[in-house]
Amino acid sequence: MNKQFDQIIVGGGVIGCSIAYQLVKRGYRVLIIERNQVGCEASSAAAGMLGAQGEFAEDSPLFQFAQESRALFQDLSEELREEAGIDIQYRHKGIMKLAFHQQQYNKLKTVAAFQREADNAAYLLSVEEARKMEPSLTDNLRAILYLPNDGQVSARHLTKAFCLAACHHGAILHEQEKVSELLMEAGKVYGVRTTEATYYAGQVIVATGAFGDELLPADYSTIPVKGECLLLELEQELFQSTLWMDGCYLVPKQGKKVIVGASSIPGKTDKHVHAASVQKLLARAQKMVPQLAEARIRNHWAGVRPGTADEMPYLGEIPDIAGLYAAKGHYRNGILLSPITGIYMADLLENKPISPLYNDCFRASRQANKLEKAGESK
Ligand code: FAD
Ligand code: GLY
Repeated sequence: MNKQFDQIIVGGGVIGCSIAYQLVKRGYRVLIIERNQVGCEASSAAAGMLGAQGEFAEDSPLFQFAQESRALFQDLSEELREEAGIDIQYRHKGIMKLAFHQQQYNKLKTVAAFQREADNAAYLLSVEEARKMEPSLTDNLRAILYLPNDGQVSARHLTKAFCLAACHHGAILHEQEKVSELLMEAGKVYGVRTTEATYYAGQVIVATGAFGDELLPADYSTIPVKGECLLLELEQELFQSTLWMDGCYLVPKQGKKVIVGASSIPGKTDKHVHAASVQKLLARAQKMVPQLAEARIRNHWAGVRPGTADEMPYLGEIPDIAGLYAAKGHYRNGILLSPITGIYMADLLENKPISPLYNDCFRASRQANKLEKAGESK
């Protein structure tokens, strides 16, 4: 069995698979090691929204990064269909954010102004205008913010497609194999030890989402944030846009299905779905679309978002360990950010010039530097 690679990627979530895909396309020999099955964690729990506007209320480098990533999906969906034979179910029908009272409406007005300032389409609609587009919406609304350019995909299909496309280009995938140790000598990484064997590479990328923190220094740890979802099945399609209110979103899927998401519980990594969460989600879902009371519950699940203290991902080399990289901490937006993350990490690994703005915000050492600076100023 070949044990020598150019890069080893630890973690077969959407992030690890997207990075693998970019690297093999550039001619590298890549090994992906997944402790369980590709996409088994957050990457298949996600609702698949591409909320490059919907998830952001103010400007930041991550907002810019998200815009760039969203713009890649149209071509990517065609590319992955060709390379992997998988339809990632890219839909481009926008997100509607609902305000039920004046205070929520005021918030939406501020977000709309920010979005327009950033040259993004963002429309404040009256209830009548919104109901012309989505007649199943409740009429008990104050107003709606419509973001037509946010889309959605099937998170599970996207992850699988990245993985298959990477393998199609020669990546090797080992599932049911856990990386237990990184091999390092003289300030350099040279491979990994797993439950099965030892593999060698001059570059190792830790893309373990909310897990695998033990592989990296403590400064790069993630904060797990559990999210519970439901899948509803309808008699007929009721709406096409993603609908969103405080504490709940509804993402319409193929086959008259709707994902209702999601709770947000920091510090929890269990996968139980609690009755109280289901009750809250269903109440909010029906508040947005009363007819959902008649929907059938087809499925429920929980996943763990990889949060970080400043809600930015860690994307970069670990200081003092040459060749060791982190690509984790995508929190609520890993599906949206996966295409750009793959390209960004491949550029970093190849020592290509990268945006100083992104480097400053995402580099793995930013937390350690902040703590050091805080210590100096005491
Ligand atoms: P993961 O998908 O968790 O993958 C990490 C992988 O590493 C896992 O498969 C794990 O088994 C493996 N691993 C861990 N340790 C080891 C080890 N030692 N050895 C080998 N393998 C290891 N994002 C969006 O953009 N849009 C959404 O609509 C959206 N909705 C969400 C809804 C919910 C309920 C949740 C929970 C998340 C949602 N997200 C969404 C966020 C998104 O799912 C995550 O940001 C993204 O999936 C993170 O991908 P990842 O590859 O970093 O992590
Ligand atoms: N981005 C949606 C969620 O994390 O629930």
